[in-house]
Amino acid sequence: MKKIGIKGTGSFVPTREVPNSYFEKMVDTSDEWIVTRTGIRSRRMIEPGQAISDLATPASERALEMAGLSPKKLDLIVIGTSTADMLSPSAACIVQHRLGAKNAVAFDINAACPAFIYGLAVAQKFMQDGSHRYVLVVGGEIVSNRIDYKDRSTCVLFGDGAGAVVLTHSNGHRYGEILATQIYSDGDLWKLLYVPGGGSRIPPSYQMLDKGLQYVKMQGNEVFKYSIRTMVDAARKIMESKKITAKKIDWFIPHQANIRIMEEVAKRLEIPPDKVIITVHKYGNTSAASIPTALDEAVRSGKIQHGDLVLANSFGAGFTWGATLLRY
Ligand SMILES: CC(C)(COP(=O)(O)OP(=O)(O)OC[C@H]1O[C@@H](n2cnc3c(N)ncnc32)[C@H](O)[C@@H]1OP(=O)(O)O)[C@@H](O)C(=O)NCCC(=O)NCCS
Repeated sequence: MKKIGIKGTGSFVPTREVPNSYFEKMVDTSDEWIVTRTGIRSRRMIEPGQAISDLATPASERALEMAGLSPKKLDLIVIGTSTADMLSPSAACIVQHRLGAKNAVAFDINAACPAFIYGLAVAQKFMQDGSHRYVLVVGGEIVSNRIDYKDRSTCVLFGDGAGAVVLTHSNGHRYGEILATQIYSDGDLWKLLYVPGGGSRIPPSYQMLDKGLQYVKMQGNEVFKYSIRTMVDAARKIMESKKITAKKIDWFIPHQANIRIMEEVAKRLEIPPDKVIITVHKYGNTSAASIPTALDEAVRSGKIQHGDLVLANSFGAGFTWGATLLRY
């Protein structure tokens, strides 16, 4: 089986910064509550009319530029998102068009926050037999227009963004190696975090909009508990599968949902705080974009160096969760 490594990373967030004070005017909340309970100070949100391809395309261009690869060389484009530009076609087909990636096959993966990790898992399957050589995996989400600005327990949490990687076959040295990616789902828990309206069960209608069914519904406390449990479990399993102990991890990128979740997961895994990559304070929870944007920023800032061992894990609606372990 072919080894697979990362040839380039890229990310893009909207320019509009939305500080916590923005929500103080809408709901009964405070900067102090949001910072202490979530670690979030600010997030980025799109301007009206923007769509996920407006973020995913520049994120992909940056990854391709770092990789020194023409879009025409791409064999496959996988976009992890549940907020495509429109219901059909996929965001991946729109991004393929905008990049001019004529020779790629393109599709989306709807797996909520871990959709980027799901994307890596799928890309690896396509690449391992050698049939697909250059693959673009993107995680991107626009949550800002899926949240109810009257619900203080959800509206303060999310932000918009996109991150991308270009994968290539690797000898394990120049482009490192994705050592393993493992993904999980438990559909029994779907009702703890979901968007009821706009799909085939409750199609768009005036009644749907009146009831606010187009917005994220979440039982925050339950999600909080499950996210810690599953992210710890996924991290332990993937390290065990490669006989790697937490001491060997150079950088840990947990899903950027809530600083308290991230700190607890790192503590249970015995990974020290100075090895944890954190962007949640400035971007909030960007769902599928959370891991690849944090990865790209850590690479570009020089934190993550070639040869470093990186563990990333994520959790989200479905429930879905997973982890990836890579030598950068
Ligand atoms: C949503 C979340 C931040 C709430 O924090 P919490 O410490 O669990 O708070 P609780 O839900 O126990 O609520 C405590 C109180 O704070 C209130 N509260 C909730 N949001 C608030 C806000 N933005 N401002 C002020 N008070 C708020 C609640 O109404 C509740 O009030 P009550 O005691 O009068 O009923 C937290 O549960 C969380 O992060 N959950 C996981 C969310 C997540 O990651 N989702 C995406 C997964 S990918």
